Amino acid sequence: MTTVRGTVEVFPTADELAVAAADRFVAAAAAAIDATETFSVALSGGSTPRALFALLASEAYATRVEWSRVHFFWGDERCVPPDDEASNYRMARETLLDHVPIRAANVHRIRGEDSPAAAAEHYERDLRAAFASPTGAPRVAPGSRFDLVLLGLGTNGHTASLFPHLQAVREHMRWVMAEHVEVLQMWRITLTPAILNAGAEILFLVSGRDKAAVLRRVLYGARDVDELPAQVIAPEDGRLHWMADAAAASDLPAT
Ligand code: 6PG
Repeated sequence: MTTVRGTVEVFPTADELAVAAADRFVAAAAAAIDATETFSVALSGGSTPRALFALLASEAYATRVEWSRVHFFWGDERCVPPDDEASNYRMARETLLDHVPIRAANVHRIRGEDSPAAAAEHYERDLRAAFASPTGAPRVAPGSRFDLVLLGLGTNGHTASLFPHLQAVREHMRWVMAEHVEVLQMWRITLTPAILNAGAEILFLVSGRDKAAVLRRVLYGARDVDELPAQVIAPEDGRLHWMADAAAASDLPAT
């Protein structure tokens, strides 16, 4: 289905959602590597992408991506060390990165162990170097932006670590920000809409009945990015696509 906030595909189960997402990842990687010899992907955190990462590392998929040409970034991170169980980097490492032939230099993780301000500053420098944009807005051109951005959706409408009623959701200059998230009592490092919306393809993965109400509000409700930060995601010159399982899509209007 097509909505004002991108196209939506619904899959009967979470497993079928993961397979479709893995196929999309493989296709996006092949297209980008064909065009620029590299594939820059921003990974999401949380629990939903686990199945996708494990599938990409599996026999069925591991040989279908030229892993040595893939540059891995993260859309956000918790301010914890890389071996902490809450670390998004650790989750991706354990489910994917440790199992495919990547180049260590191509893994651009957010240094959650540093002070929040230093981690955000360091990651902005890292991103700007990777996309050859030392200053100003990201260039929406191949090789200068993410080829694929993976995002999740929180039950409160947050995505990456763009949380309701905080500042980062309205940031248009900085690419990376540190925010203290009161409801979680923790600091988070997040990419901002400035760099996320420059992505060539943005893919939301949403799974589970507990996401049904917020998914409907984000896709069909009135636009209020402070209340529903996921609504700020609107690629400047790219594709916005949602993949949901039937449980998460159970409140969406029947097509
Ligand atoms: C994080 C994520 C966050 C996540 C949503 C959904 O660091 O937690 O990047 O934005 O995608 O909270 O999380 P689940 O997939 O666990 O429901």
